Amino acid sequence: MRTISTLGDLRGKRVLVRSDFNVPLKEGVITDDGRIRAALPTLKTLTDAGAKVVIMAHLGRPKGQVDPAFSLAPVATRLAELSGVKVTLASDVVGASATETVAGLSEGEIALLENVRYDARETSKVDEEREELAREYAKLGDAFVSDGFGVVHRKQASVYDIAKILPSAAGLLVLKEIESLSKVTGEPERPYGVVLGGSKVSDKLGVIANLLKKADMLFIGGGMAFTFLAAQGHSVGKSLLEEDQIETVKGYIAEAAERGVDLVLPIDVVVAPEFAADAPATVVKVDAIPDDQMGLDIGPESAKLFADKLAGAKTVAWNGPMGVFEFDSFAGGTRAVAEALSTGTMFSVIGGGDSAAAVRLLGFDENTFSHISTGGGASLELLEGKVLPGIAVLED
Ligand code: 3PG
Repeated sequence: MRTISTLGDLRGKRVLVRSDFNVPLKEGVITDDGRIRAALPTLKTLTDAGAKVVIMAHLGRPKGQVDPAFSLAPVATRLAELSGVKVTLASDVVGASATETVAGLSEGEIALLENVRYDARETSKVDEEREELAREYAKLGDAFVSDGFGVVHRKQASVYDIAKILPSAAGLLVLKEIESLSKVTGEPERPYGVVLGGSKVSDKLGVIANLLKKADMLFIGGGMAFTFLAAQGHSVGKSLLEEDQIETVKGYIAEAAERGVDLVLPIDVVVAPEFAADAPATVVKVDAIPDDQMGLDIGPESAKLFADKLAGAKTVAWNGPMGVFEFDSFAGGTRAVAEALSTGTMFSVIGGGDSAAAVRLLGFDENTFSHISTGGGASLELLEGKVLPGIAVLED
């Protein structure tokens, strides 16, 4: 993997940086700035070296249309606050404003191009279209640093094609993410526990298939647990259930038994009649889920079981919340897993946007975990054992 130092003396040079600033917004206000903070070390390295930094980033999926709802303006403001560096937002991607903004940069300053997904060529499936846009980006920089870990699984112009045109290197965030995630996908110190949650089993099939071969313990919580419980013959009431995945899940249960993997499923759940913050919550055993109720969290006995077993692990990878952590009554399971990893001495990696957001929302100190990934899909694909285009393109 090429590092920033391979780019030589950067003083006065224009360095294009791909960052992942796809942050959650509520009424135009950033609700979790974790991805912006995670980008700071690379940006500081570059501005301290006297580079003129030109950032390419996306927000949401505006589908090739200019739509003010997806403007990076709130990001530019927050980035300037956090970095203490002047940040100028161009009003277009590679047009007159971008050219002018970059030309006006002084050493150590930052320009942010508008949402790269305003240009349909950014995400085009046609190689020539992406390459054409990448050549336009290349006019704005002398070198390229790839630091948007959350997008390295995307074969897109500002992630992949640009790296083939300019001298390019991986940024500090991308290096740190790969180093940490490879500790849980390579030869983890044992016992190795994998905790999976989130709503759908179908989103995690590749991860389960890959990690069943490596883990000593596999914990299943969140909405996806109900498909496992149904596969074991339990009735799950109104809980999330992917009936078309029951056979696949039965296969995983059998494979776990064959391989001697301890498959840990909830033994009790918190149920409610509807999906609402103030819905009345009741704890029931998994064989007594009422027909008119839905499970919205793992129960307290399950939380204790998960936490006790996790305490014995030397390595843990966690992806996906255990319940609807945004609602206080259904946050107990996610809190218990976070607590176990936060207080434990194991090497812990938290991947996926939701679980990372959960630990911050629940007030845990991020530094008490070994690594919190900024990648959602990207970290999942690494856990699946896939080769990611935005990483492969940076390899020597
Ligand atoms: C993410 O939020 O996971 C990344 O920014 C990638 O976004 P995308 O799924 O829209 O490509």
